[in-house]
Amino acid sequence: MPDAMPAMISLPFITIFIVHALLVTCTKDTLDLRRSDSNGTDIILAGAQNTSHPILLSSDGAYAWQFFSRNGDLTKRLLVVLRVLFNTSIVVWIANRDHPASPDASLLLELPLRRLTLRERNGAVVWSPAAVNISSIVMNTNGSLHILGEAGALQWQSFDEPADVLVPGQYLLTNHTATSSISVTDWTTGFYTLKADPGGMVLYATFDAQQTMIPYQIFNYIRENDTIASSLYSNCNHTIIIYDKDGSGITLEQSGTVTPQCLAENNGVPTINGVFFPNRIGNDSGYRFLRISPIGDLVTFYISNFTGLVQDNELFRVFYNTYCKFPSYCGAYGLCSSIQNCSCPQLFEAIDPSDPTQGCQRQTPLNCSNFEHHQFLQVPGTDYYANDYLTPQKVVQDPTECTNLCLQSCSCSAAFYNNNTGACHLYDQLRTMQYLANPNVIAFLRVTSLPGTGQSDKMVIRNQVRVTP
Ligand SMILES: *[C@@H]1O[C@H](CO)[C@@H](O)[C@H](O)[C@H]1NC(C)=O
Ligand SMILES: *[C@@H]1O[C@H](CO)[C@@H](O)[C@H](O)[C@H]1NC(C)=O
Ligand SMILES: *[C@@H]1O[C@H](CO)[C@@H](O)[C@H](O)[C@H]1NC(C)=O
Ligand SMILES: *[C@@H]1O[C@H](CO)[C@@H](O)[C@H](O)[C@H]1NC(C)=O
Ligand SMILES: *[C@@H]1O[C@H](CO)[C@@H](O)[C@H](O)[C@H]1NC(C)=O
Ligand SMILES: *[C@@H]1O[C@H](CO)[C@@H](O)[C@H](O)[C@H]1NC(C)=O
Ligand SMILES: *[C@@H]1O[C@H](CO)[C@@H](O)[C@H](O)[C@H]1NC(C)=O
Ligand SMILES: *[C@@H]1O[C@H](CO)[C@@H](O)[C@H](O)[C@H]1NC(C)=O
Ligand SMILES: *[C@@H]1O[C@H](CO)[C@@H](O)[C@H](O)[C@H]1NC(C)=O
Ligand SMILES: *[C@@H]1O[C@H](CO)[C@@H](O)[C@H](O)[C@H]1NC(C)=O
Ligand SMILES: *[C@@H]1O[C@H](CO)[C@@H](O)[C@H](O)[C@H]1NC(C)=O
Ligand SMILES: *[C@@H]1O[C@H](CO)[C@@H](O)[C@H](O)[C@H]1NC(C)=O
Repeated sequence: MPDAMPAMISLPFITIFIVHALLVTCTKDTLDLRRSDSNGTDIILAGAQNTSHPILLSSDGAYAWQFFSRNGDLTKRLLVVLRVLFNTSIVVWIANRDHPASPDASLLLELPLRRLTLRERNGAVVWSPAAVNISSIVMNTNGSLHILGEAGALQWQSFDEPADVLVPGQYLLTNHTATSSISVTDWTTGFYTLKADPGGMVLYATFDAQQTMIPYQIFNYIRENDTIASSLYSNCNHTIIIYDKDGSGITLEQSGTVTPQCLAENNGVPTINGVFFPNRIGNDSGYRFLRISPIGDLVTFYISNFTGLVQDNELFRVFYNTYCKFPSYCGAYGLCSSIQNCSCPQLFEAIDPSDPTQGCQRQTPLNCSNFEHHQFLQVPGTDYYANDYLTPQKVVQDPTECTNLCLQSCSCSAAFYNNNTGACHLYDQLRTMQYLANPNVIAFLRVTSLPGTGQSDKMVIRNQVRVTP
């Protein structure tokens, strides 16, 4: 998965920093670093343990750039947060998302390159944006953190490297991504990625090596031909996704020269398309955001002193009128039926009975001994999000050929057979299955043995295995 953050680089030889503490008495929106002469030593701008004060605060007081940690977490992340409601801090950007810093890490202006670096005491680089000769750093009122180089030229901005939130006016450049967090409270990179692809915006899921960047939802230029392919293989090579300044919608724009091929795709005319949000709440001094939610939807929400935090759009849930189209709404091996009904297949049990969306596990775990004699629980009419987008393992004559392929590998956990196309898909790990969503697809879940049958030499497919409600 593309990762906006630089990898951890260990510099074992740099162990001592002679530094001069500098600046910041009352919080301003700009760090002016032009005259910070420290005779060649690095300059500490902030210590990671200092989570009580912003390093920078936008001039209207709304956005703060500061270190933060979740409740009970000692490690620190460097964030841009909305602080308009004093009780609430909406995280709109994260520097070191997957690399929490220890409390004794420091944010430094490193000389002689005049580079911004978040560095551990032992020298390891946690985060360092691509900017040198830095003259100032500004927290803007629109939520973008700017790093300016010589003569005030913009060298880097947080809007170019979104985490999971877009604020109004923010954009996703071609081939750039924004990726969900594990949960609203765990900011670690999660499973779902929004990417500005050549023909539109595409949501991808990543769970494991087999299921990496699998597209599961698109919004492209050519709305009547709503296929993944029309977006991924479009002749329009310059999509940019813009979250409209007033938060009223998403616009897909051409960001470069419009080629004749692209124009042809668009019936000669439109190169701009978008999603408009109909259900906007309020008209007060609130703040609106777009988040790639932990379950993989595009969600808009609104916050103000009057309304508190309000979620007002779930784009694709509304589009499909079901949660079952989300790759993992019911967790691993969960069956999703109706609109948002999660249950476990027979011979599986809920991981957390009080929360069916946590998924299911086998009552008897699989192991690799005797694996060629495992059996299959058949769940007719049950499809899987990745079947639409992954090339089948093989096109086969009958379901037995498909399950036999699965039996050959100890790691294969489930097979899907499409009796219309003969497509046979095999998976080592499953997320949520779409129960009774496609009469042509049959799910075969591998189990050590089916009830009422012993281990036998021949694979057994029982036609009437029901699914536990
Ligand atoms: C830099 O060195 C000069 C000469 O030694 C000294 O006068 C000056 O105070 C030093 N500046 C800083 C910021 O330490
Ligand atoms: C925390 O940061 C604020 C603002 O930069 C500063 O005034 C304060 O002294 C810092 N506190 C500590 C313990 O470093
Ligand atoms: C929201 O309420 C806080 C606390 O009362 C106040 O400080 C802040 O200015 C208010 N913000 C807006 C935008 O009204
Ligand atoms: C802020 O927190 C305080 C104390 O927890 C609570 O009394 C108050 O209602 C909260 N305000 C808002 C706007 O949530
Ligand atoms: C940074 O400053 C140095 C010294 O003035 C200069 O040689 C270099 O070209 C500058 N680099 C950039 C990217 O501005
Ligand atoms: C955000 O605000 C800054 C300062 O006003 C401005 O330079 C920048 O263009 C704005 N960004 C966007 C995307 O509008
Ligand atoms: C986007 O990525 C593709 C594949 O790596 C590349 O061919 C294309 O040039 C990129 N487009 C832009 C605008 O970066
Ligand atoms: C789009 O980009 C791809 C890869 O960079 C390139 O092969 C193709 O010719 C481009 N299409 C158009 C219409 O420019
Ligand atoms: C959209 O689909 C229709 C029917 O499949 C086809 O005739 C048309 O050419 C497609 N349009 C584009 C722009 O691909
Ligand atoms: C929002 O408020 C402004 C000024 O108060 C008004 O001009 C505008 O028509 C309102 N918009 C809506 C959609 O109510
Ligand atoms: C395909 O399977 C479904 C049940 O999953 C069944 O209703 C349908 O009749 C089957 N079609 C064929 C051609 O076998
Ligand atoms: C939920 O799904 C189960 C089967 O998975 C079904 O038996 C049950 O009736 C469904 N409940 C609702 C409310 O749809």
